[in-house]
Amino acid sequence: MWSSDHSQDSASCGLNVAGCSAKSGCSSTRCWKTRKCTSLPTAVVGKMRSLIPRGSVVHPVTTVPPRCGVPSPAGPPCCGSSRAPQPARWGARRARRRSGGRGRRRIRFISSGHPTTARLRRGRVISFAAMKRVQKLGGSRRLLVASAVFGLFVLFDIALFGWLIFRSLSQREIERVLLETREEAETLAKRIADRAERQGDLYTAVAGERETQTYIDSILRQRDIVRQVEIRDKNGVLVLKSVNQASIQIPEGSPGLGQGSPELRELGEEKKEGQWTTTYEVPDVRVPIGDLGLLEIGISAPELGKRIEILRKELIQQAAVIGGLSVLLLVGAFVGVWLLMRRAQSLEMQAAEAERMAYIGTLASGLAHEIRNPLNSLNLNMQMLEEEIEEGGSAPTGKRLLSITRSELSRLERLVTDFLTYAKPRPVELEEIPAVLLLERVPEVLAGEIQKRRARIAVHDRSQGARVRVDPAQINQVLLNLTQNALAAAEEADRTPLLELSVHRQGAWVQLKVADNGGGIPLAEQAKIFDLFYSTRKGGTGLGLAIVDRIARAHGGRVAVESTPGTGTVMTVELPAVTTVESGPGLS
Ligand SMILES: Nc1ncnc2c1ncn2[C@@H]1O[C@H](COP(=O)(O)OP(=O)(O)O)[C@@H](O)[C@H]1O
Ligand SMILES: [Mg+2]
Repeated sequence: MWSSDHSQDSASCGLNVAGCSAKSGCSSTRCWKTRKCTSLPTAVVGKMRSLIPRGSVVHPVTTVPPRCGVPSPAGPPCCGSSRAPQPARWGARRARRRSGGRGRRRIRFISSGHPTTARLRRGRVISFAAMKRVQKLGGSRRLLVASAVFGLFVLFDIALFGWLIFRSLSQREIERVLLETREEAETLAKRIADRAERQGDLYTAVAGERETQTYIDSILRQRDIVRQVEIRDKNGVLVLKSVNQASIQIPEGSPGLGQGSPELRELGEEKKEGQWTTTYEVPDVRVPIGDLGLLEIGISAPELGKRIEILRKELIQQAAVIGGLSVLLLVGAFVGVWLLMRRAQSLEMQAAEAERMAYIGTLASGLAHEIRNPLNSLNLNMQMLEEEIEEGGSAPTGKRLLSITRSELSRLERLVTDFLTYAKPRPVELEEIPAVLLLERVPEVLAGEIQKRRARIAVHDRSQGARVRVDPAQINQVLLNLTQNALAAAEEADRTPLLELSVHRQGAWVQLKVADNGGGIPLAEQAKIFDLFYSTRKGGTGLGLAIVDRIARAHGGRVAVESTPGTGTVMTVELPAVTTVESGPGLS
């Protein structure tokens, strides 16, 4: 069973009380004194106050911390960050300076996996209050820019559509005019052809036909678009030319009138091109008048241009209305989204704040509970000692009471040390080393304890030369915690401790195993052993495995427990193996 499968608060990043590590004699009372911790309760309360509210690196009890991946400096503090997370206050000030001050540099937030803080992109930690301010500022500006860009796109879109529609409308208008003119020309040509058939020739038909003249007249009058109407005989000789609103005139000497001149006088005046700038090339409409000649109707390009210009203006007006409405709608939508975003942000912050408070509450109550027990016991012992002294009691009783007092005091000290180790982790200082070296130090460090308990420890190297990138001191602490648990378990089961420390290569992973012959852990309890303050041992703090888990995660690894009640337990720490070519021989 892996620690992350079940334990919500088991993540442990921490290693060290500043200047007071296990290595540097953390367990001695002298350490407290050097750190001006004269009385334990004050120290504990002081540490709690200074640590937890701004504690930028403690994982929440109620939140599952992110499963660490391959260690990277950009990861959460417990995920291999090589920089010390700085107090939230400093980060907040810096964030304010960067965002509010000049407002030039953008700040991106990455979840730190911790309810009180967020990490800036460069790995710095800031408080949620600062994050809130910066997010609000950055969010609004980003939304504004996005709105402006989107608005511009919409306007461009509308303009493009307008232009395309205008082009197609112009074309259609020209086609419509040509079609209408052709229909009229065909009607007129048919009439003239009928009349000419009856009267014998085209000249007489045109000249004698008042109806035709009136018809042409009306066409020219009604339709500005018609520039001129020409009728030619089959030899191409002009029989009639009527320009604009002129009436039909029969030229003198026309063959039909017996004077033989085929040329006609132009009547009327063509409209002058004035303000129109766009000119269109429009072909004349030509319709045959039976076999007798040709009717030609010229279209006025300026008139056509004028019509198209009117169309264009209408279209621009409509596009402007549509564009304006779209922009209004967009602005409305973006204001709505912005309000929603702000609301969501504030709800998120409230939730995070509530989570943080819940976390602090759980941590504080757990620690207070753990501290109160030894304090009660100390109080009682002191009272009894007082009475003994007053009554001139026996020395052995006093000695026993003092010994109990000392043991309670050292338990308190251990508790505070472990708690600080858990809550205030030391930054991981990575170093590439052969995995087996990590195991070899354990029996050396625990030599005294091993001798005292007459324990036997075997170390097996099945790593195939695998190397790991770890902080050796922190992994050493992991192995010490596990080995001490194993020794205690065997002792509790009244057995001579037989421990086996081994290192294995498993694909891309290296496994460090600590196996014991203790009483094992019941299945129901296996889910709890990584919980903060969970302990079944007299004098236990319940923080050892939480620290182990946190360190493993800080290295991108994890911890697992396999236990058979009555037989023993195997604790496994899995760490990513170094896979580079130069990582040494023995790697597959
Ligand atoms: N090797 C083991 N064998 C049996 N029980 C174990 C072993 N390791 C841990 N445990 C159980 O897990 C609990 C939590 O361990 P830990 O976090 O190290 O706290 P502590 O050692 O202070 O009790 C122990 O109290 C014990 O019940
Ligand atoms: Mg322990």
